[in-house]
Amino acid sequence: MKICEPKSDDDFKKYYELRWKILREPWNQPRGSERDEMDDSAMHIMVCIGDEVVGVSRLHFNSDEEAQIRYMAVDERYRRKGVGTMMLEELERRAREKGARHVVLNARENAVDFYRKNGYTVVERTYTLFNSINHFKMRKFLDE
Ligand SMILES: CC(C)(COP(=O)(O)OP(=O)(O)OC[C@H]1O[C@@H](n2cnc3c(N)ncnc32)[C@H](O)[C@@H]1OP(=O)(O)O)[C@@H](O)C(=O)NCCC(=O)NCCS
Repeated sequence: MKICEPKSDDDFKKYYELRWKILREPWNQPRGSERDEMDDSAMHIMVCIGDEVVGVSRLHFNSDEEAQIRYMAVDERYRRKGVGTMMLEELERRAREKGARHVVLNARENAVDFYRKNGYTVVERTYTLFNSINHFKMRKFLDE
């Protein structure tokens, strides 16, 4: 199991496929709905086992001090094996390296305990996606 960055067209195809499969398909959202306008400039990472992509996530900056993680998704077969934590640690390392003081994210309700375990605290309840998924803004200060 290793962290890598998608580079080739094939890498990005697998990367977006997993993002869509985990975060959009179960709510009948079309392909393409898993992307946004920040994807071209954001940092992308994935966890691979051989040729298979089992985890994906993304980091972008909202300001010099604030980095944001989005689209964290782990293949169901590989959950609770440390894949998500591995990606969080790598994105936090990169955020710190680029000068961020804190990382924010909008956690789905089911993922709040995962982020809590990794040092994030809830700031406020934010929005509801697809009329069903409650989100909570969470934050972690990187020098803590
Ligand atoms: C949330 C998610 C990314 C976690 O990834 P993961 O690889 O399973 O997480 P890890 O194995 O690194 O978990 C680390 C710790 O977080 C906590 N944790 C992880 N998933 C949890 C869950 N579903 N419920 C409660 N605690 C959880 C546990 O304390 C876990 O440690 P343990 O397994 O030793 O008890 C993954 O479950 C996922 O992709 N979920 C569906 C998509 C999603 O909701 N993404 C987040 C969008 S904001």
